[in-house]
Amino acid sequence: MNEITQFTTRHPFLDGKPKRMLVDGKWLEAASGKTFQTINPSTGEVLAEVAEGDAEDIDRAVAAARRAFTGPWSKFKPFERQNLLLKLAELVEKHFEELAALDTLDMGAPISRTVGNKLRALGMLRYYAGQAVSIHGETIENSLPGEYASFTLKEPVGVVGAIIPWNGPLTATIWKIGPALATGCTVVLKPAEEAPLTPLRLAELCQEAGVPPGVVNVVPGYGETAGAALANHRDVDKVAFTGSHLTGQKIIQASAGNLKRVSLELGGKSPDVVFADADLDAAVPGAGMAVFANSGQICSAGTRLFVERKIYQEFSQRVADYGKSLKVGNSSDPATQVGPLVSTEQLDRVTGYLAIGRQEGARPLSGGERLTEGDMAKGFFVPPTVFADVKDEMRIAQEEIFGPVISAIPFDDIEEVIARANATQFGLGSGLWTRDVTKAHKLARAIRAGSVWINCYQAMDPAVPFGGYKMSGYGRESGKQHVEEYLNVKSVWIRTA
Ligand code: NAI
Ligand code: MG
Repeated sequence: MNEITQFTTRHPFLDGKPKRMLVDGKWLEAASGKTFQTINPSTGEVLAEVAEGDAEDIDRAVAAARRAFTGPWSKFKPFERQNLLLKLAELVEKHFEELAALDTLDMGAPISRTVGNKLRALGMLRYYAGQAVSIHGETIENSLPGEYASFTLKEPVGVVGAIIPWNGPLTATIWKIGPALATGCTVVLKPAEEAPLTPLRLAELCQEAGVPPGVVNVVPGYGETAGAALANHRDVDKVAFTGSHLTGQKIIQASAGNLKRVSLELGGKSPDVVFADADLDAAVPGAGMAVFANSGQICSAGTRLFVERKIYQEFSQRVADYGKSLKVGNSSDPATQVGPLVSTEQLDRVTGYLAIGRQEGARPLSGGERLTEGDMAKGFFVPPTVFADVKDEMRIAQEEIFGPVISAIPFDDIEEVIARANATQFGLGSGLWTRDVTKAHKLARAIRAGSVWINCYQAMDPAVPFGGYKMSGYGRESGKQHVEEYLNVKSVWIRTA
């Protein structure tokens, strides 16, 4: 048994004790005393009882974050914040297999995937460490140069409420606390109720790294209570939200009370366009994993697969066959390529769409039903599914399913596919497969989405911005732009004459 599987069977964080929340450097029970359960979606087993925070806990955490923001944390020099992030990266590296196993147990991503995220997670922390010492304002030549000097300062925006989903708890947490620590903000993070464990373990590592009390607070709880209290809070300066567009709309409404800043990384229905001239041997697994990875529970999954008509039948069938070749099973098994969906809610949602697809006249070439044989019945497994004969207006071609479901749609020419690819309320990811440079450039400019992947899908890097157009939200994560989202610009004038 290797080290990775050892952590998935006997995990040191799962010691049978209820998990508490981190507020002001202290591990507390919920003010109400309530807890909720988090489960392993591969087996349905309860992993832990977790403190269920609500408005009162959020109040305490925000007050602690405010005190920390104006306290000693505000005196930390950029290189000291950099050192903290580097120390945290070192601890995450040391404990990586354990963190990856916790993600796998709590949300069901295959262990091969969560362990495979190592370089990305560490790269993110080290990138933000670099950003901590790269923040700078500008000297600006105004129109009265001899009389006035003017320059800008970049200042941390303040207390940040971070609300994250369950589909990648470790990286989602790093994506929120990384820029906050880099810029000198403080954070109250509310994990998703489906997968709160990794954020809590990461909070322990923040403490171990020397993050001062109140700078990072983690309050688990439900969206309608803890999440809403954070989004509404008058003393929160910014909310950084990742999740569904419907909740994103509520976050904006909740921000109106104090006009807090909002950044939103929401869902998608991303087009992936395959031209007949593409390297099809690469495009088959590429287009397949653009959706089957993480069981389709990725905001930028390439779920609308547009295939040039002359290869449509053959290519769709090849992607379906590729899907059938993937090993579906318990996420803790190192051989598993496709794990379960995160929860019974998500299972109902995805199987609901499978039924809708059939009613609408789409034809499953693979998958199409929940798996219930043997131990599978205890978990929430849906196999890789490819629907053929999909029409643009079908619900399975318009709505985010968040499951391993591809809608394959034929097209005839480039102008037509551009218009159809853009005919969606969303604009997060997009892909295209071709050997023709002219087509590639044309589509890269014409697609209205925050990322375009050419002859690849889902490539990510801490230095390259990621985010949405249209109803996929606004603001960017990763890259210089991400850090700017956590900064205010102050203009300073000096009369020099
Ligand atoms: P959700 O958007 O409701 O949940 C995401 C986070 O928001 C969780 O932490 C949740 O507790 C919190 N939340 C929920 N209601 C809130 C409120 N009123 N105020 C403040 N915070 C609130 O997504 P959910 O219910 O987990 O999944 C439903 C669908 O949303 C999925 O099937 C998928 O289509 C989409 N989704 C998209 C994600 C993405 O990365 N783009 C991530 C998760 C879900
Ligand atoms: Mg869970």
